[in-house]
Amino acid sequence: MSTSTFRTAVVRNPNGPDSIEIIDVPVTEPGPGEVRVRVAAAAVNPVDLGVAGGFFHQMGLIDQPHHTGLGWDFAGTVIAVGDGVDLAVGTRVAGMVGGFDRDFGTYAEQLVVPATDLAVVPDGLDLVEASTVPANGLTAAQILDLLGDAPATGARLLVTGAAGAVGGYVAALAPDRGWRVTGLARATDEEFVRSTGADFTTDTAPGWDAVADTAVLPQALDLVRDGGTLVGVRPGAAPEAERGITVHVVNVHADAARLSDLLARTASGELAARVHTAVPLDQVADAHRAVAKGGVRGRYVLRP
Ligand SMILES: NC(=O)c1ccc[n+]([C@@H]2O[C@H](COP(=O)([O-])OP(=O)(O)OC[C@H]3O[C@@H](n4cnc5c(N)ncnc54)[C@H](OP(=O)(O)O)[C@@H]3O)[C@@H](O)[C@H]2O)c1
Repeated sequence: MSTSTFRTAVVRNPNGPDSIEIIDVPVTEPGPGEVRVRVAAAAVNPVDLGVAGGFFHQMGLIDQPHHTGLGWDFAGTVIAVGDGVDLAVGTRVAGMVGGFDRDFGTYAEQLVVPATDLAVVPDGLDLVEASTVPANGLTAAQILDLLGDAPATGARLLVTGAAGAVGGYVAALAPDRGWRVTGLARATDEEFVRSTGADFTTDTAPGWDAVADTAVLPQALDLVRDGGTLVGVRPGAAPEAERGITVHVVNVHADAARLSDLLARTASGELAARVHTAVPLDQVADAHRAVAKGGVRGRYVLRP
């Protein structure tokens, strides 16, 4: 890396993993309230496969003239600070960059981000592990905000995709809000789902007080009892409400205080750190191909 440019993975003509390119872009200095981070780790999430595949371009959510940045999650080290920032150079931090329509992402050697979006990574938590927490941990926490407290003692929440990144966090965090949780996952995922403290099922039987549908099941609404609650994960693709059911869709946003709590609970071992493997940024296309096949548990993490 020269001092005036850094490497980043982007798509110009999104068409799946083969269309991902690594390019050099100019270094920018952090403005007021911003920091520049040397990215040590960036997790590969399903949303990144959607961006690289052109799904969000086709939906009209991305309109970049030159290239689109990839990656939402990151962990790294502060290397420069703008005016009004009280984080020291050298601090280990993690965060997420949201929104689809941007020419930069976290699959990059460097990133300039608002300091208020960052959480300090606790001592003892590896940056690779930390990079898997922000987007998915915060999505789960914000799903629980939408669900609210359990309406009655023993109210039953079904988490579909409970072995996934978001679902695993929802299963682990929902008892804080009084929910009795059952995780729906593949038969081979029973041990992990039960390790979150949840009950386990592979069955899509109806009658749940609430469903957090992180697996995006076509029949998710049918699983909710009359007057219950459904939380989906696909903005713009919520099912039409029926039978008095309240339907919400989560749209994750940065939240530094929440992220600090999630990182602390990961460092203590209360929440599982879910890393499949860490690979160099140059292997980004292979990582996308592997994730696209399904069945990967824990995240591929890119090391720029
Ligand atoms: N709206 C937002 O703000 C937001 C934020 C983050 C994520 N998301 C979305 O949330 C979804 C989940 O993300 P994630 O990162 O948790 O994905 P993930 O780690 O791939 O987890 C999805 C899980 O669902 C399982 N699954 C799929 N179909 C199933 C079925 N019929 N029965 C049982 N299990 C099934 C998958 O198993 P297999 O791997 O075996 O298929 C996988 O374990 C994605 O669509 C993502 O794009 C939305």
